[in-house]
Amino acid sequence: MRIVLMGPPGAGKGTQAKKLAEAFDVPHISTGDMLRSAVQEGTPLGKKAREYMDKGLLVPDEVITGIVRERLRDKSCEKGFILDGFPRTIPQAESLEEALGEMGIRLDAVVNIVVPREELIERFTGRRVCEVCGFTYHVKYNPPQKEGICDKCGGKLIMRADDDVKTVENRINVYEQQTRPLIEYYDRKNLLVNIDGNRPIDVVFEDIKSRLRGEG
Ligand code: AP5
Ligand code: ZN
Repeated sequence: MRIVLMGPPGAGKGTQAKKLAEAFDVPHISTGDMLRSAVQEGTPLGKKAREYMDKGLLVPDEVITGIVRERLRDKSCEKGFILDGFPRTIPQAESLEEALGEMGIRLDAVVNIVVPREELIERFTGRRVCEVCGFTYHVKYNPPQKEGICDKCGGKLIMRADDDVKTVENRINVYEQQTRPLIEYYDRKNLLVNIDGNRPIDVVFEDIKSRLRGEG
């Protein structure tokens, strides 16, 4: 199963990608997670990426495409993958197509999670992530068993650095300008599957699974 998950910031891409990766037994490739790890480790890539991420801007295409290409060539991706947060621009989509073409494979579907803008803001204000394993919670919609503590690893739950109101606004605007055009791009390639993401997490998950299995 080779899937791209699309949708505005906060739509639930990471949440669904983790569940889908488990269900289909393929790796979850999140460019946001990869960049956040690089920032945390203080690598040259992390230092460069941070300047953009802190402002809610996209890191330059040439920075991210090389990393994704390398990751896709890894043996762990032979059975498939769930790409989350990539591609985000038309040049990134073209680069992905070229890379997959060189490997003799193609995408099975591009799942577009649709959530209205007003709802997104509540998703950010309530989001908490584990500072150790990165697992994502929501104080209201997906709370941990013990407040402030990760169910998976016992790590402390914190807010993401780019979840303040101003950065979130920038991220949504950047999405509208640079990423939304991909909806039409993939629709023209007959790969687009639109999913109503404004429903409980498990309802959205079941819907995506059944659509990918061709039942919907
Ligand atoms: P990235 O980490 O990809 O952030 P994003 O796209 O802004 O998406 P989010 O992670 O904020 O949201 P999500 O859709 O995964 O939602 P989640 O599941 O957490 O990118 C961060 C930055 O990295 C970018 O700004 C950019 O600088 C850089 N970057 C990354 N990729 C790049 C690329 N390809 N090119 C250039 N730059 C790149 O859910 C949100 C909250 O809602 C959670 O609290 C969750 O528990 C809750 N929730 C989820 N689903 C539901 C539901 N159905 N109902 C109620 N609550 C829900
Ligand atoms: Zn954890």
